[in-house]
Amino acid sequence: MPRIVKFSLIIIAVYCLLKIPGVFFTRPIPASVLSVYLLFAVVATLLAMTATGEGATGFIEPIASLFADPSKRAARNIVLVIVPIAAAWIAYAALRPDDAPPPIVRSIHPAPPAAFTAYGRTIELASLTNPYRASEKENPSQFRAAVDEGAEIYFKNCFYCHGAKLDGAGHYARGLSPSPVPFRGTDTIAQLQESYVFWRVAKGGPGLPREGGPWLSAMPAWEDALTEDEAWKVVTFIYDYTGNRPRSWAK
Ligand code: HEC
Repeated sequence: MPRIVKFSLIIIAVYCLLKIPGVFFTRPIPASVLSVYLLFAVVATLLAMTATGEGATGFIEPIASLFADPSKRAARNIVLVIVPIAAAWIAYAALRPDDAPPPIVRSIHPAPPAAFTAYGRTIELASLTNPYRASEKENPSQFRAAVDEGAEIYFKNCFYCHGAKLDGAGHYARGLSPSPVPFRGTDTIAQLQESYVFWRVAKGGPGLPREGGPWLSAMPAWEDALTEDEAWKVVTFIYDYTGNRPRSWAK
């Protein structure tokens, strides 16, 4: 096998091993990192293959003859046409204007208002607490009952968007952008205080602040459909079921 072919096969194999998830890397690596690794592979393979004088000649000889040998004129002309076209295509593809609409930048957790009106009164967020939270330690059976009722409320009202596993993958989720939030994991309700979550449940997408929009949120305002008590129970349930703890002020 000509050395140049061997060389190409080795580089292609290294490329595939770096690209296929699970061989070296469990996740795709950035193109810039990939090109650095490939550069190392090219240099190392070239060094290994040209270490002896014979190896170097075997490597360079076919390339030199392609350009010097009169009988290889046709092959030479093909290479001289294809290489510039390929280079031009790569440059064009990198610079080609993109007509996709710009992504809408949206903050996931907007700053809450200091106070909001729901259930016919003004509610201050700073002093709002979950009426069931204290019973978690003081009266566990009362707490469990609230969680169970919260589960029922969840599966009657929320699961078709937020998912039966609370993972944001409900039946409607695919049709909604922004997607319903998953409650599992550490980047949604685990980052929030219960008062904030209660505000989001009560006021939904329509209650989001004007700044930072367009929110385009399909999250309903539940103050119209759930009582205050039911809203707290469902909030208690989504924390309990996902094993998340609400954030609270450091004591
Ligand atoms: C029609 C679909 C839909 C239903 C039904 C729905 N939600 Fe949502 N919900 C959303 C979407 C979409 C978002 C993300 C956009 C946003 O933050 O408003 C969201 C966001 C939220 C958030 C904000 C979480 C965060 O990390 O900021 C909470 C809390 C929430 N929903 C709770 C509920 C509860 C509790 C119910 C049931 C009482 C419910 N949702 C029912 C669509 C829905």
